[in-house]
Amino acid sequence: MCGIVAYIGGRDSVPILLEGLARLEYRGYDSAGLAVVGRSGDLRVRKAKGRVSELAADVPARLKGSPGIGHTRWATHGEPSDDNAHPHAYGPIAIVHNGIIENAEELRSGLLAGGATFTSQTDSEIFAHLIAAAADRDGVDGPRDLEEAVRIALQSVVGTYGLAVLDARSPDRLVVARNGSPVLVGIGDKEMFAASDVAALVRYTRQVVHLDDGEIATLRADGFRTTTLDARRTTKQAAVIEADAASYDADGHAHFMHKEIHEQPGVIERVLRGRLDERFNTAHLGGLNLDPREARGIRRVKILGCGSAYYSGVLGAQLIEELARVPADAEPASEFRYRSPVIEEGTLYIGVSQSGETYDTLAAVQEVKRKGGRVLGVVNTVGSTIAREVDGGVYLHAGPEVSVTSTKTFTATATVFALLALHLGRIHDLSPADGRRIASGLRRLPGQIAEILTMEAEIAGLAKDLAQYPGMFFVGRVRGWPVAREGAQKLKEISYLHAEAYPASELKHGPLALVGPGLPTVATVPDDELVEKNLSTLGEIRARQGRVLFVGHSAAAAGQLADNVLVVPKNEPELDPILLSVPLQLLAYHAAVELGNDVDRPRNLAKSVTVE
Ligand code: G6P
Repeated sequence: MCGIVAYIGGRDSVPILLEGLARLEYRGYDSAGLAVVGRSGDLRVRKAKGRVSELAADVPARLKGSPGIGHTRWATHGEPSDDNAHPHAYGPIAIVHNGIIENAEELRSGLLAGGATFTSQTDSEIFAHLIAAAADRDGVDGPRDLEEAVRIALQSVVGTYGLAVLDARSPDRLVVARNGSPVLVGIGDKEMFAASDVAALVRYTRQVVHLDDGEIATLRADGFRTTTLDARRTTKQAAVIEADAASYDADGHAHFMHKEIHEQPGVIERVLRGRLDERFNTAHLGGLNLDPREARGIRRVKILGCGSAYYSGVLGAQLIEELARVPADAEPASEFRYRSPVIEEGTLYIGVSQSGETYDTLAAVQEVKRKGGRVLGVVNTVGSTIAREVDGGVYLHAGPEVSVTSTKTFTATATVFALLALHLGRIHDLSPADGRRIASGLRRLPGQIAEILTMEAEIAGLAKDLAQYPGMFFVGRVRGWPVAREGAQKLKEISYLHAEAYPASELKHGPLALVGPGLPTVATVPDDELVEKNLSTLGEIRARQGRVLFVGHSAAAAGQLADNVLVVPKNEPELDPILLSVPLQLLAYHAAVELGNDVDRPRNLAKSVTVE
């Protein structure tokens, strides 16, 4: 969704802003713009609906300057248009804003009554007016200090913001502020940066400072200072970002999704590194902040997330319940937060998010905390809002995921849940022998995923064929069920084919009415005690001339019941769902390629949904 980048220093900010905006494209956006203070102290704004490359082509070579601010917008208030694109300027003030002003109507009416005119339908433009008014000191020479003006303006705003502001009259500074929408300050050599996402900074610096909610920072070329909304100084520790510029390159792959699918063996190795304990046949997860006594006292686990993060939670809940024998389930964070959930003593809540910025997941985490519950995070982005909100947790260390649809972070999250299940299991009743079995199964995962990736040509052929149908069913039973759900999610997100997941056991209770030659079924069939039952479901489909793609561990098991078979290496039954999900990623990828879709940036979707 919306992205911010800002620069102050001796260089021309325009190429830095454009490069930063291009790096933010993956988040999803509909318009882009920038504002700089030119050499003669004039404010210059360029913005338009469309791609960053179109904006870059439209910026004249003579437009140069510093400081500068840039923005990619994802429409919330007002349609995508040139006028609604950011920055919004009023007089010498220009702003870019991520987030939503909740009392926008009231503020706008007040400003209109005072004679203000607006050029856009956005709530964000209000900031430019409020800050300009606060900077203006009637009858006194010169404007009020920009930081002070921003502070005064923010006092009347209710809502969320990541904000960057410049004032052409004070070209030696830039002000940024945060409340509920991320802002990072990037530290350079006699130059400073700010952005809403590290992706925009990695080309220039890896030293960053994360602002907290309610903080304002003034950036000058030679340093920065941070304060609270009531003007108290704060001290900040710089962190070094793990990702480098290469992490944001497709690296010879046609798409980021393809690169990220192929990164999985290395990612899973990193997830496991240093976390398996051979002596006690268990797993250690450093950041849980749960001592064994507390871990033993857990009576229930509730996992919260959205989209693929939720589906990875469904898989994770199953692993925890199976290995630790602690009742566990997952729920969409977006539903949980609105249904006035009962927060139980003895329940461990876990928020799952790749970005760590999904608003619904954050709100669910805050709801649990507000009611006194204990909540952990399973998050990929270090220093993200959810990572900082939770009482402890586990980082995936999967590296940046650029493609909108999740692949490597799905399997990485599932693997973290397997580690957590092993850890809790060994504290509860999992035997040392079973602990050893699961730990050695986990170690085999990277090699087995690499083996699955060698099946790509075969899967691509099937995808080409299946993409000709209007849609597909995905079915699975118990361990295969979350795999089927995530498989359907992948396919619908990027191929735009209708894809529906059903528990195999439910098929005859309704959806079988749709089965026939025109609707193929992808069946995920782990080699466990339910194989026979799965096969009888396939028999029901075949009896109605339904085409079946069997994704399992043995061609012999599928027998005559499948038109096509994908044989996936076998691990321990509890871990097989992780392996079975990989061919379904490749299936969705190649179906989308076959249909000519924008694989990495599917229509209507954003990588990180930071609004409700
Ligand atoms: C968006 C994306 C999904 C993603 C979900 C959760 O809806 O389009 O692909 O699974 O957000 O994202 P998170 O960053 O919280 O894992």
